[in-house]
Amino acid sequence: MSDALPWVTDAWYAALWGERLPAGTLVARTLLNTEIVLFRGENGPAALEDCCMHRFVPLHLGKVEDGRVRCGYHGLQYDAQGACVHNPHGTGKLPAGRVRSFPAVEKHGMIWVWMGNGTADPAKVPDLSAFDAIPERYHAKRDYIPVAASYRLVLDNLLDLSHVSFVHPGVIGTDDMTAVEDMTVREEADAVTVTRSWPGISISANLRRMYRGIGERADKWNDLTWNAPCNVTLSAGYAEPGALRETGAGIISAHLLTPETVATTHYHFSAARIRVAPDEEDENAEVLAEFSRVRRFAFEEQDAPIIAAQQRKIDAIGNRRPVLIAVDDGAVRYNRILNRMLEAQHV
Ligand code: FES
Ligand SMILES: [Fe+2]
Repeated sequence: MSDALPWVTDAWYAALWGERLPAGTLVARTLLNTEIVLFRGENGPAALEDCCMHRFVPLHLGKVEDGRVRCGYHGLQYDAQGACVHNPHGTGKLPAGRVRSFPAVEKHGMIWVWMGNGTADPAKVPDLSAFDAIPERYHAKRDYIPVAASYRLVLDNLLDLSHVSFVHPGVIGTDDMTAVEDMTVREEADAVTVTRSWPGISISANLRRMYRGIGERADKWNDLTWNAPCNVTLSAGYAEPGALRETGAGIISAHLLTPETVATTHYHFSAARIRVAPDEEDENAEVLAEFSRVRRFAFEEQDAPIIAAQQRKIDAIGNRRPVLIAVDDGAVRYNRILNRMLEAQHV
């Protein structure tokens, strides 16, 4: 395990929300320890190594012209595949060689980049079509935070939502959430689903505003799925005590993690409301704005500092075995699958 790579390279990684890459702009990102530059090429999003092959100036310091990148130093111009297509000097002879390019596609509002050497099959982009099926007015802000910790610690955090009562009290959690009535963990080849439900749980004031039809107590569910290597989707909602789930309301959310380095992570998140009652339409925009604000606060001000502190502590004490408790089941199982994938990739 020790000499295995820290991440799966042959996978589509969430690089940037598409709306954050307007035509004509260059965005630099480090994915899996590799510095790349993103832009909109002639046929869609493009990703190149952020390094001019002439004198190694970062390409993101240049500009986009007709879907091509012009280096900001001596003006060599590259297409989306990294081939030099214009040399403004001398006879204009094009130099040999090319800048490394990475397959990039835009799907479900996200620009995905394939960082490995294996075949980049667009059919393998994580399936977030459930989000596409929901009208845009029910979507929360597509957001992003950097986290100063390994993507695996962020995954551990997401796979174990028992932390919600302690890290997010009154924000997205309530005390009685620690008393899990029912938790099941289902394992597939490259996915783990943790299902938790709480009958007759108290609902925080924040959430009561979002689910107006629901009283102070409700049956709550959380279905959370990790898809290898590092994307998580969550269905969470509330129904009247004893009522069918299908009669309740809730959200689906996506948590798309991409390793920046071994100890830093790009955390992209999105969410959409499901089954908004007709009499809640009038407040929908306002409710979603508040929901977006609260979520960002929870992830950025509450989760991220704890996970970053955990990373610093682990760096300081070295590789100790954690003492596990019941809530760790989901995290243990996804770690096992991911470790197997990493070991298989190394041989
Ligand atoms: S360094 Fe890019 S053109 Fe010279
Ligand atoms: Fe959290």
